[in-house]
Amino acid sequence: MAQYGASPVTVQKALRTLASQGAVETRPGVGTFVRAVRVARSHDYGWQTAALGPRPKPVQQLATSLHTYPNDVIALHSGYPDRELLPERLVRAAFIRAARSDSAVTRSPAAGLPDLQAWFAAELGAGSPMGVAPPAPSDVVVFPGSQTSLSAAFRALVGVGRPLLVESPTYWGAILAAEQVGVQVVPVPSGPRGPDPEVLARAFAQTGARAFYAQPSFANPTGARWSPDLADEVLRLVREHSAYLIEDDWAHDFGITQAVVPLAARDDGGHVIYLRSLTKSVSPAVRVSGLIARGPARERILAGAQAESLYVSGMLQAVALDVVTQPAWRTHLRGQRQQLAARRDLLLGALREHVPDAIVEAVPQGGLNLWLRFPDTTDVARLVRDCEAAGVIVAAGDEWFPAEPTGAYLRLNYSGPNPGAFPEGARVIGKALARQG
Ligand SMILES: Cc1ncc(COP(=O)(O)O)c(C=O)c1O
Repeated sequence: MAQYGASPVTVQKALRTLASQGAVETRPGVGTFVRAVRVARSHDYGWQTAALGPRPKPVQQLATSLHTYPNDVIALHSGYPDRELLPERLVRAAFIRAARSDSAVTRSPAAGLPDLQAWFAAELGAGSPMGVAPPAPSDVVVFPGSQTSLSAAFRALVGVGRPLLVESPTYWGAILAAEQVGVQVVPVPSGPRGPDPEVLARAFAQTGARAFYAQPSFANPTGARWSPDLADEVLRLVREHSAYLIEDDWAHDFGITQAVVPLAARDDGGHVIYLRSLTKSVSPAVRVSGLIARGPARERILAGAQAESLYVSGMLQAVALDVVTQPAWRTHLRGQRQQLAARRDLLLGALREHVPDAIVEAVPQGGLNLWLRFPDTTDVARLVRDCEAAGVIVAAGDEWFPAEPTGAYLRLNYSGPNPGAFPEGARVIGKALARQG
C-alpha cells in the first residue's frame, strides 16, 4: 500500500489473484508469503543403511500368490478365489447393515465380538464326538486373518530360536511368519497322504520341539488330507510330547467331495490350536479369522494379539458374522463346491492332455490348488519365466519348501478368474516344458 499508494481493497484483490495463480500462499495468523517452488529430486534414503545395520537374513520377495497382474493374463497363481466364487450379494448387504449398526462406531472386545466367538466355537464343536468337551466361545480369539494368528501362535508357543516342526512342503506364509518371529523351522516331509508319523515322532524326539504346524485338511499346496488313523496318531504324538498341533483349517469351506472334520474337534486337552479363516470364503476384503485354544496357551496368544493390534475392527467382524449366519450362506457353499469341482476337473483334464509329463500325485478332494510335479531335470524358474512371457502366470513350487526343494513343482490355483482359459494355460505350460527338451 505504501509503496504503490494503492488502497487496501486493491491490495487484497491482488493477493487473491496471486493466491489463485499459486504464486503466493496465506498462512492464517502468520501472513502471506511467496510460495516455495517444489523441485523434483531423487530420494536419498542412504542414511537408513547405517541406521538399520546388517540385514538379519535375506528378505523374502513378495510371494507369487500375492502378485497382481493385468487382467489379460491367464492367472493360475493367486491365493484368493475370484470374485465370481464369493458370496458377493451377501457381503455387500452385510456391509450396508453393519454401517448402520453400532459396530461402525464402537470398539470391539479384545478377543472379538461375543456372537462371532460363539459362532466359531459352535462350528468346531459341531464335529466334537461324544465324550469330548466342545470349545467354549471364551476359547476363541478373533484375528484380522489367519496370517496374523500364525505369527501370534508361533511367538507365544514356540519363541525365538526354538524349534517349530512344519510339514514340507507347507504354506509359504507360515514359513515367512515363522522366520519373522525368529523360530527355528524344522521341516518334516509330507506327501499326498500327509506326514509319516514315525518321521514326525523322530523329529519331536530329536529337536524337543513343542509345536507342529500342519494342515490336515486339503493342505496348501499338496491338497493332502490326513486319514483318520494318521490324525489319531498325530494327536497321540503331540500328547506324548506335551506339545501343540497348530492346525490351519484354511480350506474348511472348500471341501469338494468331502467335508472337513477338524482334528481340533477331537481334542479337549488343549493340545490343538485351531485356526479357521474366513478371508478366502467370505471376501478377501473381510479379513477375519478365529483361533481356538484352551488354557494358558490362549491367554498368551491373546496377550500377543493385543500387543500387536489391540482388537479387530468390529465392523469387519459384524460383516463376517452377518454373512455366515444367513441361510443363503449354506446355499452359496453348495454352489461353490460344484464350481470348484468343475474348475479342478477342467484344469486337470487340460494338464493331462497338454502336459502329460507332469504328475498330480493325488487329485485333491478339496482346497483350491493342484500340486504338479515335473521331471527332476526341469528348470522350474525358466518354466515360470517362459509361461509368464506367454501370458500364463504360475507359481514355482520352491516357495512352499521350508528348506531346499525336493523336486520340481508348480502350484496351480483353479479358483482364479476366467476358467475358460485353463486349457490354453495348460497348452502354454506344455509348450514351455517341451522347449526344455
Ligand atoms: C494355508 C493358509 N493359511 C493361512 C492363510 C492366510 O489366511 P488369511 O487370509 O486369513 O490371513 C493362507 C492364505 O493363503 C493359507 O493358504
